[in-house]
Amino acid sequence: MQETAWWQRGIIYEVYPRSFQDSNGDGVGDLNGILQRLDYLVKLGVDALWISPFYSSPMADFGYDVADYCGIDPLFGAMQDFDRLLQEIHNRGLKLILDLVPNHTSDQHPWFLESRSSRENSKRDWYLWRDEANNWQSNFGGPGWEWDDFTGQYYYHSFLKQQPDLNWRNRLVRTAIFQAMRFWLARGVDGFRVDVIWLMIKDDQFRDNPPNPSFRPGQPSSHRFLPVFNSDRPQVHEVVSEMRAVIDDYRDRVLIGEIYLPIPQLMAYYGKDLGGTQLPFNFQLLQTAWTAEALARAISEYDDALPAGAWPNWVLGNHDNARIATRVGSHQARLAAMLLLSLPGTITLYYGEEIGMTNVPIPPDLVQDPAEKNEPGIGVGRDPERTPMPWDSSPLAGFTTGRPWLPLGEDHASLNVEKSDQDPESILHLYRTLIALRRRHSVLVTGELHSIAAANNVLSYERRGEGERLRVLLNLGDAPIPIPSAIGEILAATSPCCLSERPNGLMQLGAAMGLIVRLPAEKYATNGTSSREGRFS
Ligand code: NOJ
Repeated sequence: MQETAWWQRGIIYEVYPRSFQDSNGDGVGDLNGILQRLDYLVKLGVDALWISPFYSSPMADFGYDVADYCGIDPLFGAMQDFDRLLQEIHNRGLKLILDLVPNHTSDQHPWFLESRSSRENSKRDWYLWRDEANNWQSNFGGPGWEWDDFTGQYYYHSFLKQQPDLNWRNRLVRTAIFQAMRFWLARGVDGFRVDVIWLMIKDDQFRDNPPNPSFRPGQPSSHRFLPVFNSDRPQVHEVVSEMRAVIDDYRDRVLIGEIYLPIPQLMAYYGKDLGGTQLPFNFQLLQTAWTAEALARAISEYDDALPAGAWPNWVLGNHDNARIATRVGSHQARLAAMLLLSLPGTITLYYGEEIGMTNVPIPPDLVQDPAEKNEPGIGVGRDPERTPMPWDSSPLAGFTTGRPWLPLGEDHASLNVEKSDQDPESILHLYRTLIALRRRHSVLVTGELHSIAAANNVLSYERRGEGERLRVLLNLGDAPIPIPSAIGEILAATSPCCLSERPNGLMQLGAAMGLIVRLPAEKYATNGTSSREGRFS
């Protein structure tokens, strides 16, 4: 394979730490719990863990409200637990990516306590204080400005009022967060996933956002205005390149940006001369309608838009979006796995997708997510995709010995890791097979995407390079489709009964089934270089 960095060829696995494995019976997952499950991840075949925040926090937004960037919340463990976890991760040849939350702190962070203590305080300007509120909204519902009686001004919060936004135009704020990054980098972490990186700089004139003409009642209130002046401001790229410079002071680290933007704006986060985030998260598969046509269009659009030298990446799920098996159904979730693991570049998986976990309905009295509490019943809640990982068939699924912080799925006795492990036809085995295939056929990582097409509910594309030519065929429809009998050597199938013979001797690919086949070598004259290398030239 061409020279690639670990974060280019690797598969990243997101662990939502509250829900992965509890080690002390308090019903909430923790660092020692993750440690207990590392060998499961090794067997799955992933390369890196991204762990959502475990810093000291009042947990108003479950850790995305940080009160100390260099401390571990006791709920998750202590610094020695972290050090041991990191060591064990590295001992297994895995990498660790932390979640950096630089856009806002907790309102209990000492910086904010100082900032709100008086208008004259030296940290007053570390946050966004104004005499008057404009129309910027909070992403969790309602106005984004909170009145502070004590000092007689408003402060801005993109999320909860317990999450005041930092002022990234202030040089000292930058220095302070960069110091926190260095603290973890020096300890040995392999990179950061940066929370809401596209929101970090706001308009310096605090202009009102224009109304959103497509807003309809029943949508989240933050959709009432178009986020023109409080997101994706041009100056944000300067901050991103400074963060990248911090990363580049250490060997072999990665900077990943959380960015929900249309493709052209997203691409800008690779940065000028590619000095931005190495991986601006690509959420196309989270946002595209599940049809062959829409997926083909999204994949082509993304691939075509990649700047020279930019490394692609694909994400299928995360802690803010409905699980794939709920979005597309459990049969199609197998196709989704094949799609994800046959696309170029870096892959990010969300915990539990590999066993086909679905969203768990949460009764109103058990709701935890502040987004749902603020705007109930309109579908913004994220608890359903954050429920505990079911490890075995015991009453509490091997997740905890206490009361789980969110309910386990009703199907946990039948759908869990232990059962999936024993069933060679489970989606877990399919994930392991596809991950191993990706490792063996580096064309799946580095090769060029060709012939992306959609017809009769079938999505197909080729991967070419590294002396190989593979074709991926995904039948998203609910009827079998005929395929040529000499289609090539089958490398992977979403299920053992994918292919059947028709009376006329032709073959057919079953409904909701997919294949990866190797086309005969003579049909493909390679020049010996992979296409991604081509992009670099
Ligand atoms: C994005 C995170 O993914 C989400 O979970 C969190 O609530 C917000 N940022 C606020 O930090």
